[in-house]
Order: sequence, then structure tokens, then C-alpha cells
Amino acid sequence: MLSQEIASRYKNDKTAIIQMLNAIQDHYGYLPKDEIISLSKSIMLPMSKIWGIITFYSHYKLTRPAKHPVRVCSGTACHVKNSKLLKDVFEELIEDLPEDEVSVESVACLGCCALAPVFEVNGEVHGGMTKKKVEELASELHGEEMR
Ligand code: FES
Repeated sequence: MLSQEIASRYKNDKTAIIQMLNAIQDHYGYLPKDEIISLSKSIMLPMSKIWGIITFYSHYKLTRPAKHPVRVCSGTACHVKNSKLLKDVFEELIEDLPEDEVSVESVACLGCCALAPVFEVNGEVHGGMTKKKVEELASELHGEEMR
């Protein structure tokens, strides 16, 4: 099991728990439950402690990421330029797609406020989003699903 290899790489040192969780997430794209249980046993750190760490840091994911992750900025600059409304429109346009195809989440400032409102699609920044651009993005993702 990967978590055992990672634990031994860090000599089962509990203080390296963050690095171990990061390594597991880097490998899978999320933290599979069986790997976390195995890690807990390997380094003899209770699941409750590990769970506390996982839920404290927002970058840890407990579910397999969708094929196309979409992150919508909800920072101040984007919020005042209607990012929430654009997110709602986008979610409505993709609601017929399978759950594992596209995921949508709100995130804090993506660090490119001059481009507000900002969507990040597959790790790529899309600035100056408008209702028309949101519709184009949704239709592009529908096209992807057909392939
Ligand atoms: S507020 Fe959206 S990128 Fe900064």
C-alpha cells in the first residue's frame, strides 16, 4: 500500500504527517480512505488526529476529482463582478453532465484579481468571465463528454 511506503520513507515520523498526506494526495489526486487508515496504523497516529488535520486544511480532497475541475473565484474583486451569479448559471448549464465529468467549487482569491471575474478550468485561468463565456465553456465541456 502506498501509505506504508510513504510512512517508511519518513521513518514513520508522525511530525511529517503533512508531507505524507501531501504525497498521498499528489499520487491519487485525493486522499483515499483506505490509505488514510493504513497511514494511521503505520505511524501509530489516531484517525481522529489525522482527520483533524485533513479537515483543517482546505486543499485536502476526500473524493476523486472530476475529469474537469472548475474553480470559481469568490474573492472580493470577483464577487463584486458577479462570480457567484456566473457560477450559478454555469452549474445550471452542466447539471446534465455526469458527476465525475465536471466538478465546480468556490475558492478564495486565485491571485489574478485584475482579470475578475475568474474561473479556473483544468488548472488554466479564464479571466473576464461573462455569461456568454460561461455558456461557451459549458458547451465545450458538453463536447468533451461526447468524446
Ligand atoms: S478576487 Fe478573484 S482572483 Fe482575486
